[in-house]
Amino acid sequence: MIKVAPSILSADFSNLGAELKKVQRAGADLIHVDIMDGHFVPNITIGPVVVKYIRKTTRLPLDVHLMIENPAKYIDAFVEAGSDMITVHIEVVSLKELAAIAKILKRRGVKFGISLNPATPLAKIKKALALVDFVLVMSVNPGFGGQAFIPSALTKIRQLRAIFKKDIAVDGGINHITGRQVKEAGANILAAGSYIFGAKNTKKAINSLR
Ligand code: DX5
Ligand code: ZN
Repeated sequence: MIKVAPSILSADFSNLGAELKKVQRAGADLIHVDIMDGHFVPNITIGPVVVKYIRKTTRLPLDVHLMIENPAKYIDAFVEAGSDMITVHIEVVSLKELAAIAKILKRRGVKFGISLNPATPLAKIKKALALVDFVLVMSVNPGFGGQAFIPSALTKIRQLRAIFKKDIAVDGGINHITGRQVKEAGANILAAGSYIFGAKNTKKAINSLR
């Protein structure tokens, strides 16, 4: 089953409630929430206080993508804010921190994901695979919406699918064409920002990814 996760990075933040309702009505499965700190990535977005209000506005599961340094420090705050899934980046956590985060999230009933940047080899996450519920493969360099899909992500997804039976999410440059390619490679959760929020017909855009 394919799940579509609109990334609110491309939403109108002054109308976030209405934007969330719009994608919910159009059949979104999850809400992808991009958290950026200006350190791990060259952009700044939102923190737990906004996630808390997003939680009140939609019934859809919140898929919180932490593009921040020292994610361990903020796990509790994002759990408290109502996250259903939390992803951290392998580039900024040790295996020891990953194990500690996994333990907390399991106890709190929150799904745990590990993400890797386009330049990070799959070998880097091998030891983390046993600790997580899903992997988020980045198909752009994180930081901004609207970038072009990096095709080497397809090989990574294929190789990962051969050794990992749980959910594989992909994030960055997803549209009806790249969406088909990542599904064929083995991904089953598609995060998409500009393609969905920029579409004239939201429902059609979401359905085209499924
Ligand atoms: C990129 C973010 C993505 C972003 C995707 O740093 O993690 O979730 O919103 O945007 P599109 O789909 O426009 O590439
Ligand atoms: Zn993201």
